[in-house]
Amino acid sequence: MVNRADPVYQANYQAMQQALDRLRGELLRSTQGGGEKYVQRHLSRGKLLPRERIEMLLDEGSYFLEIAPLAGIGMPGETPGAGVVAGIGLVSRRECLVVANEATVKGGATGEVGLWKNGRLADIALQNHLPTVLLVESAGADLPVQSKIFVPGGRGFRELTRRSRQRIPTVAVVFGSSTAGGAYLPGMSDYVIMVKKQAQVFLAGPPLVKMATGEVVDEESLGGAEMHSRISGLSDYLAENELDALRIAREVVSHFTRRKTLPELAPVEEPLHDPDELLGIASADVRVPFEVRDVITRIVDGSRFSEFKSEYGQTLVTGFARLHGFPIGILANNGVLLSESASKGAQFIALCNQQDIPLVFLQNITGFMVGRDYEEDGIIRNGAKLINAVSNSTVPALTVMIGGSYGAGNYAMCGRAYEPRFLFTWPNHRIAVMGAQQLSGVMDMIKREAAAKQGLPVDEAQLEAARQALEDQINRESDCYFATARLWDDGIIDPRDTRTVLAIALSACYNRPVEGTMEWGVFRH
Ligand code: COA
Repeated sequence: MVNRADPVYQANYQAMQQALDRLRGELLRSTQGGGEKYVQRHLSRGKLLPRERIEMLLDEGSYFLEIAPLAGIGMPGETPGAGVVAGIGLVSRRECLVVANEATVKGGATGEVGLWKNGRLADIALQNHLPTVLLVESAGADLPVQSKIFVPGGRGFRELTRRSRQRIPTVAVVFGSSTAGGAYLPGMSDYVIMVKKQAQVFLAGPPLVKMATGEVVDEESLGGAEMHSRISGLSDYLAENELDALRIAREVVSHFTRRKTLPELAPVEEPLHDPDELLGIASADVRVPFEVRDVITRIVDGSRFSEFKSEYGQTLVTGFARLHGFPIGILANNGVLLSESASKGAQFIALCNQQDIPLVFLQNITGFMVGRDYEEDGIIRNGAKLINAVSNSTVPALTVMIGGSYGAGNYAMCGRAYEPRFLFTWPNHRIAVMGAQQLSGVMDMIKREAAAKQGLPVDEAQLEAARQALEDQINRESDCYFATARLWDDGIIDPRDTRTVLAIALSACYNRPVEGTMEWGVFRH
């Protein structure tokens, strides 16, 4: 039981509420496209906005788990959602990845962060075998920044056809002008639907054609929906209008017959403990540890957690539970990682793989324990075991950063580089190779030692200014918005939504058969 009257609980609660106010504000801003002028212009052309298109495409009452809505936030040239709105929802009762170009910003052109986001979306579709519906209206490459995107941008088209080969279909619905790169989106898709008198798809628009060859041609003749449906064959379905196009897309998806194989599901039970209390449980200051079992019991079915090896390696809590009926194996930090906790984690991951049980990592980690005794005890060797297990595990992993994520703890607890199927963070989350104070202190010591070696005097004021500047920089870079801007996660979520978000993600994972492995790299015993 948590004590709601406890001052620490109350301070955490208040801090989290403030953080959530900011999150809601930023999410709202991310839905406003290119702003009033461009939105009005778009609407005055009789077009639906990207989010309206998604809403009309999805089944009535479907969820929509948005991915990386704040990609690019605070970065130079920031555009809402990095130019694409994307997420997972139900289309004709089939889980799909839906991706819509934000046509009210730069004509839906893709910049550098947009490219990263599209790369992440392609990974989600591939790793989870999710059919994709692309709602296309894109001016292609963001031309002034072409040097950053042109060469790596080819990957997106390559991945479309590779997914096709793996029987993971893509449906492209073209609503507007789609030039060059925008044209290869339908070009590489399995099904193409074009909206009459709106969709225009060409390698080069009329001005470039005139410049290149002298030919004078109007847009409709060059790449209109009717031309592509009747003459070029690029379009498979000619839609009367946007709603008709979305109806056709739903019809196309309804013909997909490959179905996911679900595990034996338990009846869904709400947690016994109130998820609202998560706001007071999670420390506002990530340096202050908190009891992770209090988090687990507010996320899992019936608050039932069958703990594994509870008396051993206690800084890593491991155990089995159900979440919306799905079986899961949880690994959750309850302090700094020690040799025993790392070995226990590796063993637990192997057990989950043996039984095809998906993993949920709850990360709140300052790193592995350092110091002579711990080195002698083999902290590197044991940490390597856990990293080996995380790297080679083949059951889906879902990671939630519920506090700090520092040092090799990020890796061992299935950080982004270890390819969890989905990774979400809480607003109190902070991430860096180490804490800002420690990092700037380490650099300070290195500089002092270097000066001593050269017999040079140290300028205390200068050194302190440099230390402070570095500390400020690392603090800025450790912020959860800095992280989400760079696609280090799939989004910042309200802690109270963790259970729902994990359930949608788990369900999506099962579109690909869940099969654990019994094959690992050589363990360093
Ligand atoms: N890169 C960067 N910015 C672009 C862009 C691109 N590819 N395409 C359009 N924009 C910008 C425009 O400069 C304009 O910016 P501004 O409002 O600050 O002046 C804004 O996006 C809207 O464009 P606009 O032309 O006013 O909108 P529209 O709805 O009338 O037309 C297009 C949209 C896509 C038909 C038209 O902009 C176009 O043809 N763009 C070029 C497409 C192209 O050749 N792409 C090649 C990519 S390899």
